[in-house]
Amino acid sequence: MAAEPMNNVPVHVSMIMDGNGRWARERGKERVYGHFEGVESVRACVEAAVENGVKYLSIYAFSEENWNRPQEEVDALMALMVKAMEAEMDKLHSNGVRFMVIGNRARLAPELNEVIDACMARTAANTALTFIIFLSYSGKWDILQAAKKMALEIADHPERREEMMSMGVEGFERYLATAGIPDPDLIVRTSGENRLSNYLLWQGAYSEFLFTDTLWPDFRKPEFKAALETYAKRDRRYGKVK
Ligand code: IPE
Ligand code: IPE
Ligand code: MG
Repeated sequence: MAAEPMNNVPVHVSMIMDGNGRWARERGKERVYGHFEGVESVRACVEAAVENGVKYLSIYAFSEENWNRPQEEVDALMALMVKAMEAEMDKLHSNGVRFMVIGNRARLAPELNEVIDACMARTAANTALTFIIFLSYSGKWDILQAAKKMALEIADHPERREEMMSMGVEGFERYLATAGIPDPDLIVRTSGENRLSNYLLWQGAYSEFLFTDTLWPDFRKPEFKAALETYAKRDRRYGKVK
């Protein structure tokens, strides 16, 4: 079914996928069942993004803080990542999707890192949509690793100290893990929680936010489309007077 063309489509939509555990509990099932169902929502949102002309779709799939969950749940989530990437990659590639993972990859298992590398290499030249999974990510981690990279560069190149010290915001952004990716225009959080949970702290400085009670496994194409419609009505002023 061809989608109606929309006005004022956000370039980058980012989703804080929350509520999988509650979705499963409501059905008397284990939390992991909610994560399985959540993969279906990711698939639906990728399709909806392509259909509606969104160029970047990102999802917060696992925070640095999520490593503190019970080992059993962490293991199940990591196994699900590998399985979902392997299962979805052919289709993503044939639909022209460029796949990326951003986060503290040093904490991921070698098997998962191998799958990620293979998927990223394979889809690197695709242009229909960039689909980013934020995995083992946190906003504070990102800003800290950027500052460390910058400090090391200054230490290694004392002759560039002055140039580096005069660096502005855009110069610093080159060190963030998201370098080259436009800041999210719209950040959606599901499940009725009204917080960022250490997500894109720097990059979300001027994002529009949408908090919805819908649990992530229930967030599908109609909900995605409705989020785009809400965004289209927002007035972004960036501190200026209009
Ligand atoms: C989101 O659902 C998935 C991850 C954070 C990995 P949750 O697992 O946080 O589900 P709730 O919030 O406990 O319902
Ligand atoms: C936020 O969800 C992180 C992700 C969606 C990956 P959480 O369920 O971990 O957040 P809190 O603990 O409720 O803030
Ligand atoms: Mg949660």
